[in-house]
Amino acid sequence: MPTDIRKKPYFLTTPIYYVNARPHLGHTYTTVAADVLARWKRAQGFDVYFLTGTDEHGQKIERSAAKAGQSPLEFAGAVSAEFRALWDRMGLTYDDYIRTTEERHKRGVQKLFAELQQRGFIYKGTYTGQYCVSDELYVDGPAGTVCPDCGRVTETVSEENYYFKLSEFGERLLAYYDAHPEFIQPESRRNEVIAFVRGGLRDLSISRTSFNWGIPVPGDPKHVIYVWMDALANYITALGYGSDAPEDRARFATYWPADLHLIGKEISRFHCVYWPAFLLAAELPLPKSIVAHGWLLFEQSKMSKSRGNIVRAETILDVLGADALRFFLLREIVFGQDGSFSFDALVQRYNADLANGYGNLVSRTLAMIGKYFDGVVPETTAVRERYLQFQATHTAQIDGGGWGAASAVEVLAQSLGAECNAQIAEFATWMDALDFSHALTLAQALGARVDGFLTGVAPWKQAKENSEEAQAAQQAVRAVALYAAAEAVRIITALLHPVLPDATAKVWAQLGLGEIAQADLKDLQWGGLKPGTRLGELGPVFPRAEKEAIEQMQQKEDAGAAAAAAAVETNTGATMSQAAATTANAAEPKPAVEAKPTITIDDFAKVELRVAQIQVAERVPGADRLLRLEVDLGYERRQIVAGIAEAYAPESLIGRKVVIVANLAPRKLRGLESNGMVVAASLGEKGKPVLAGFLEEIEVGARLK
Ligand code: MSP
Repeated sequence: MPTDIRKKPYFLTTPIYYVNARPHLGHTYTTVAADVLARWKRAQGFDVYFLTGTDEHGQKIERSAAKAGQSPLEFAGAVSAEFRALWDRMGLTYDDYIRTTEERHKRGVQKLFAELQQRGFIYKGTYTGQYCVSDELYVDGPAGTVCPDCGRVTETVSEENYYFKLSEFGERLLAYYDAHPEFIQPESRRNEVIAFVRGGLRDLSISRTSFNWGIPVPGDPKHVIYVWMDALANYITALGYGSDAPEDRARFATYWPADLHLIGKEISRFHCVYWPAFLLAAELPLPKSIVAHGWLLFEQSKMSKSRGNIVRAETILDVLGADALRFFLLREIVFGQDGSFSFDALVQRYNADLANGYGNLVSRTLAMIGKYFDGVVPETTAVRERYLQFQATHTAQIDGGGWGAASAVEVLAQSLGAECNAQIAEFATWMDALDFSHALTLAQALGARVDGFLTGVAPWKQAKENSEEAQAAQQAVRAVALYAAAEAVRIITALLHPVLPDATAKVWAQLGLGEIAQADLKDLQWGGLKPGTRLGELGPVFPRAEKEAIEQMQQKEDAGAAAAAAAVETNTGATMSQAAATTANAAEPKPAVEAKPTITIDDFAKVELRVAQIQVAERVPGADRLLRLEVDLGYERRQIVAGIAEAYAPESLIGRKVVIVANLAPRKLRGLESNGMVVAASLGEKGKPVLAGFLEEIEVGARLK
């Protein structure tokens, strides 16, 4: 292809997701935003390469696999497939899906390591210090230091390691940030990163010997490469770095450096400090920008597996569809800031903006073209001359009816056209700035403007007189108004396409324009809709969601959570894959009740439920939802950490008899060992806990069967 008409490459990535947790809405948020951007850039004529994938090495995955009774590779493969199946079900348009367990990746990572070693940036030393396994992060401080990211107590590790000379890159990084203000966005993250680097960089340990699940250091296989070095390299290994094959070299040359790494804010340091330092050391170009978005909150805290407050995308897909979810995430949350998810807000937005807004505008416009013009986009030029003549001698007014009205409507239609043209450019500015919420607000405002135009013109009105002339003039009013409305619908549909791919494809076909995927949406301009176009088959685009939708989603979520919890709590691979199958089958919506697994009486007998009396109750510092309890079981006293602090004041619990699961394996919450679980009902969307209890006097230690 000659270079002048070659499309400009645009390489866009998401983080690669850890496979210790199944996909939830937090992951979906980033991947959907990247998909919207990929579609937007493609529509603008870029040659987009959109990469996502899974991060499968490290101690955390090794431990999760052991817990599930599987090999790390088996375990990682199952969860990675779940992520991919979800993205496919949602129709996400990634071009490559990299798994860090793939050969192409391992080869590239080893090459990067060797390259840095050869250039003198790697040396061997001994590390003794704190490590957070959950975040795969080295933390400064004495034994017992809490991880600054997740609040868990770090583990002390002492190992002979390879070190990367990160300390040599501080000045170069700062100079780079300074010269490229767009490199880290938004500004708040940029400032954080700059402050961190200014604080001084220490050399970074980049290998581990205490576990095996990783990529061996070339020439020294008892070391595995630090999981973040392994993971970050995916952005180049997926393009072919480390391979000599001509097609790999060509891909790498075309798409590297990346145009945009899209990430969540908690991984800014890895992307904005470590990654560019590795690249500088390897003398590879740096990515053009790294944009960190905020967190999706649920029940007031970051949605995450460890907090146990996740919502699965499948639940929403089953009830409202992928477009509803995409729209909610991008319209509701200002990109870059934290935002809350709730089923109520989702349904409210769906009804207000999609069912009553865009969906209603489409159906009223197209239905009127069906009624008054037999489903053919009306011709306006034939009548134009007639009312221009009129206009030369009269002052046009809609209310007066006749040719005067047609002439006045023509003026209104022209101003609507001018506004659409202006908004097309404005919309592009906000999309390019990744301010999706603002861009969508503009598209919605345009829709409201068209609605107002239609209401003002009232094409459904009958002519005031019965004369042929008056009828013809009224039909001209309708032609001008409905052409303008349909053209505005076409433009709004094209703008919304990256966010609402399914709905806009339907509307495009209803407009008689065929497949939107084949359409050139690049040079959108008023007047592109050809009069005489026959509309396609009409049908609802966003049927209104009833109140039950909320309940239905909550039920599905409870059923899904129960299945997932069963899979995580048991140590058998069989249950794990059974739960994976439940998720994979989610493509075929089934009644929520059917999804709930049943258990036998023997299964139930395994759960030791007992009455316990609370002796001590106190808040856990830094954890708003947790209380530390000491309970008396009659035969022993034990500590339980319970997530009930938002519903119960600690002092109100002293002496209260509760039901506990007495044979739950101990686990640590915020560094405190929890021996059992207090049984409570969970009320409402926020899951407010209500403790189980008895009306009769009951003996401490009694077993429930
Ligand atoms: N594996 C690393 C990333 C390596 S990239 C070279 C990792 N994985 S992760 O599974 O924990 O995913 C983190 C990413 O998932 C976040 O950066 C963000 O993109 C997304 N999110 C997960 N939970 C989220 C929210 N609750 N809210 C918003 N995004 C979240 O870190």
